Amino acid sequence: MKPKCLAVTSHKGGSHKTTICVNAAAGLGMRGLRVLIIDTDGQKNSSIHAALPDDENPDVTLSTLLSNNKDDAKLKDLTRLAIKETHWENVSIICSDDSIGNVADKLQLTSHMAFSELGKSLNHVASRIDDPVNGFDAIIIDCAPDRRILTTGAIAYATHTLIPILSGSLYGYDGFLDMLNHITSLRKETNPQLVNLGILISGWDGNLLAHKKLLGLVTDRYQDINNVDLVKLFNGRIPRSTKMEQASMLSRSIFEVAEPSSSIYMAYDNFVDQLCVDMGLAVHDKLTHEGV
Ligand SMILES: Nc1ncnc2c1ncn2[C@@H]1O[C@H](COP(=O)(O)OP(=O)(O)O)[C@@H](O)[C@H]1O
Ligand SMILES: [Mg+2]
Repeated sequence: MKPKCLAVTSHKGGSHKTTICVNAAAGLGMRGLRVLIIDTDGQKNSSIHAALPDDENPDVTLSTLLSNNKDDAKLKDLTRLAIKETHWENVSIICSDDSIGNVADKLQLTSHMAFSELGKSLNHVASRIDDPVNGFDAIIIDCAPDRRILTTGAIAYATHTLIPILSGSLYGYDGFLDMLNHITSLRKETNPQLVNLGILISGWDGNLLAHKKLLGLVTDRYQDINNVDLVKLFNGRIPRSTKMEQASMLSRSIFEVAEPSSSIYMAYDNFVDQLCVDMGLAVHDKLTHEGV
């Protein structure tokens, strides 16, 4: 069975994709859900943030899996080796490396074939979902800020997508529109089951005019759930918070560095709750990190 799989994409760098992936994974893990992060970005940010120190530069990465996709038995063994533990309970990761862009380019595939190439690798992982000990309830794919083979493959494989918009950034809005068009055409051509969960505004500061202006642009166009693009705006925005830099520096999640009563903690907590509902993930007992 194919697991629920969320691809977090935006054509714009710095739009909080990695932060959202890592903290969503940690939050789902706290709810007893087993999550696999797949880092497809050569910048390796989610690998560095999430993987344990000994595994930050592992020998077996997503590049290794993509390069060995022709040999089923070998790929299965390599996939097992590629899955690393993280700082968080119930959360694992397949790391990226510097060569991932070249590896993907060398596959020399049309984007349509890239879907099955990436999907084949992922299905080996996904098959573990039926395994009560090692399986996963959800996969979260951290995409690079582009529309190249791996991002396209991730969208074609995913069951759900989410596009973050960096609050107050007109360039971010432009990157969002670009990605939305890409997702819309991929859904039509290759992945009709794909559900676009919508837009998540991150880095929100309600005191700044630029932020209010961008929110106006987005809501004017997308607040109606029945709009033609079938895109909704997530309830609640992720506020701008200095705690985020602190969390990544310490290899922690926001749930470990922020007070449960803080706006950033509550916004992420609500977002993860909403993800569970929207993706149909059954929540188990919820852990807290109070006192960490
Ligand atoms: N809510 C937030 N408030 C302030 N800074 C944030 C927030 N979320 C993420 N950041 C910071 O913004 C920067 C870019 O985020 P990142 O997740 O790496 O973006 P992307 O993966 O889209 O390139 C990082 O330094 C991150 O710590
Ligand atoms: Mg990133």
